[in-house]
Amino acid sequence: MAPLLSIENLSVSFTMSDYRLLAVRGVSFEMEEGATLGLVGESGCGKSVTAFSILRLVDPPGSIDGGAVRYRGRDLLALDDGEMRKVRGGEIAMIFQEPMTSLNPVFRIGNQISETVRLHLGLDKKAARERAIDLLNRVGIPNPAKRYDSYPHELSGGMRQRVMIAMALSAEPSLLIADEPTTALDVTIQAQILDLLLRIQSERKMSLLLITHDLGIVANLADAIAIMYAGEIVETGTTERIFNGPRHPYTIGLFDAIPKIGGDGGPMKTIPGTVPAVTSKPKGCLFHPRCFQGGPECLEHDIPLRDAGGGHKVRCIKA
Ligand SMILES: Nc1ncnc2c1ncn2[C@@H]1O[C@H](COP(=O)(O)OP(=O)(O)OP(=O)(O)O)[C@@H](O)[C@H]1O
Ligand code: SF4
Ligand SMILES: [Mg+2]
Repeated sequence: MAPLLSIENLSVSFTMSDYRLLAVRGVSFEMEEGATLGLVGESGCGKSVTAFSILRLVDPPGSIDGGAVRYRGRDLLALDDGEMRKVRGGEIAMIFQEPMTSLNPVFRIGNQISETVRLHLGLDKKAARERAIDLLNRVGIPNPAKRYDSYPHELSGGMRQRVMIAMALSAEPSLLIADEPTTALDVTIQAQILDLLLRIQSERKMSLLLITHDLGIVANLADAIAIMYAGEIVETGTTERIFNGPRHPYTIGLFDAIPKIGGDGGPMKTIPGTVPAVTSKPKGCLFHPRCFQGGPECLEHDIPLRDAGGGHKVRCIKA
């Protein structure tokens, strides 16, 4: 069976006044119906730009330069704007990194959800209100009929995130993209929101593209993982394979940076340096300046994403 979503060789750049930033370069991955994929990497590696590209939400100075985004076999990059609007929020919904991106501060939350429901499901006002209250209830908002009339600023960060999830679920999407859904929340609330996503995902057999910089989060939630570095995928495979045997030095570094329960309390390891912004791709491995295993041979040729067996792929000549 064809995958639900297949990204093929996606490239996205931003043309600035004096340089062109190559934000996403040749990214490919697939998602099966009902599966959860964790897209992981440090700040600036291209996670959000990849997600925005799926929904064609990359605005100038950004442009999608090449590749395909196939959803149930249709290339979304080739749809006309009307067809794309139906897919967006209907078949594929997204929870944004910043909740206020999708919540309008001047409207009551219930009305915002009802509007989406009416738009996508064509329900009348009364039915849309009932459905909105039911959605608020499903995402764990206490006293949903009363909360319907709240404004976004009257809710806590965690509650706002629940409202965003309710809104994203309003049209019963087959794929939910959650871009750092818990980064802005404190740890207890984070866990509650992740539990909620997991519950909804398994109840509804919905696919979930979970974007995070935290490898620890995807361990519990994702079936498969794709690790991004400087606009490229550097390692991908099932969660089990990657957790049991990470091969790319960057992935190994990310694992070392996860705080350990019952650890010796010593300082947490971090990977020195930051993700470079790529304007013209130099020869060889982009991770080289930060790599504990790198040598001169890593800079001689571009490094392909190579098959390590069992669907596990790694972009490193020494892995
Ligand atoms: N609108 C924009 N204009 C110019 N450059 C942009 C724009 N949006 C993103 N970029 C650049 O594209 C690259 C990828 O950004 P992206 O937002 O996808 O990173 P990310 O992995 O989501 O990071 P974070 O974890 O901080 O959210 C970065 O170098 C970023 O500065
Ligand atoms: S190719 Fe070389 S520099 Fe790049 S990750 Fe592998 S060992 Fe490190
Ligand atoms: Mg981001």
